[in-house]
Amino acid sequence: MKKHITVIDGDGIGPEVTAQAIHVLDAVAERFGHEFEYEHVLMGACAIDQTGNPLPDETIEACLRGDAILFGAIGDPKYDNDPTAKVRPEQGLLKLRKTLQLYANIRPVAAYPSLSHLSPLREERIKGVDFVIYRELTSGIYFGKKSLSDDGNQASDDCVYTREDIERVAHPAFKHAQQRRKKLTLVDKANVLETSRLWRKVVQEIAKQYPDVTVDFLFVDNAAMQIILNPSQFDVVLTENMFGDIISDEASVIGGSLGLLPSASIGAGAALFEPIHGSYPQAAGQDIANPLGSILSAAMLLDHFGLTAEANAVRDAVNWSLANGAVTRDLDPNNYYPTSVVGSVICQHIREDDMDIDRLQNTVMKASIII
Ligand code: IPM
Ligand code: MG
Repeated sequence: MKKHITVIDGDGIGPEVTAQAIHVLDAVAERFGHEFEYEHVLMGACAIDQTGNPLPDETIEACLRGDAILFGAIGDPKYDNDPTAKVRPEQGLLKLRKTLQLYANIRPVAAYPSLSHLSPLREERIKGVDFVIYRELTSGIYFGKKSLSDDGNQASDDCVYTREDIERVAHPAFKHAQQRRKKLTLVDKANVLETSRLWRKVVQEIAKQYPDVTVDFLFVDNAAMQIILNPSQFDVVLTENMFGDIISDEASVIGGSLGLLPSASIGAGAALFEPIHGSYPQAAGQDIANPLGSILSAAMLLDHFGLTAEANAVRDAVNWSLANGAVTRDLDPNNYYPTSVVGSVICQHIREDDMDIDRLQNTVMKASIII
């Protein structure tokens, strides 16, 4: 298979973790006989610095041309604490989501047994946690009309949803539930918000087309609590844009590390794959960031191409590196390896498929010499 992948390295640790995901894709291409070519383009603070625009037109064109997009991270502290900044890195990402109509953001949440000691929750609570969040990504309060009064003392953000917005993200969520444990939870605030009442109505109607899927409804405040109290009750969680942003960060820490979680944003055309962590500027350029979120995002990209065996080979390699302690400092502060070494170990596992601990030591030593 030949594929053209558009790469947005982005800001902070984005370029380093994405580089490892690309090495992993190259290892997959080598072992399974595929050809992946990459085109790197700018978005975010680095794009503002170089062009004045967080999302240059060339980036949009490259994304529309490519078969899929691999994205690192976005954001720079110099914009975060300046509410008057006219241009912000995040505008690039929001515009890209809207332009490509990436309406469904899919975030799997799983607890790895070898990392349970890192979770803020007790081990018995996180056992068996395995759910996936479907977050609507191109409507709602993020994209509604915004206003600021002339005197600067009143502001508003409209939250608008149409039936179509809801239907197009609900269907893939229901289909995914059918392939999993057949349970879908809609998270809303239907006791207060009109948009949430529309979500409930539309989802209740759609549910009739998926009679094998059990549907339940949770208000977002209760859902936030349930994610901590009893996270293993969830299978597929469907929600609107802002609630999804908040609960997906909350859910991301259950497994013990934010650095591990991948995501996919799918829509009308090319899909985008990114780790859910941010740009972590304090760690940029130090070869210490966890590359697993980006590598597992590459696995989701392979799934999207229909390359299931290839995606599983990547996930097996990641599981192997977790089980054998080939991890970055966030996962084991006493015995850790650089970002690039973790990437090399995973690539080697994919190429050989029969990695043992001696080979790991070899890889680590070789990689350390190269560093
Ligand atoms: C995310 C991020 C973005 C969002 C930011 C960077 C605009 O938090 O992808 O969850 O709020 O959607
Ligand atoms: Mg977020």
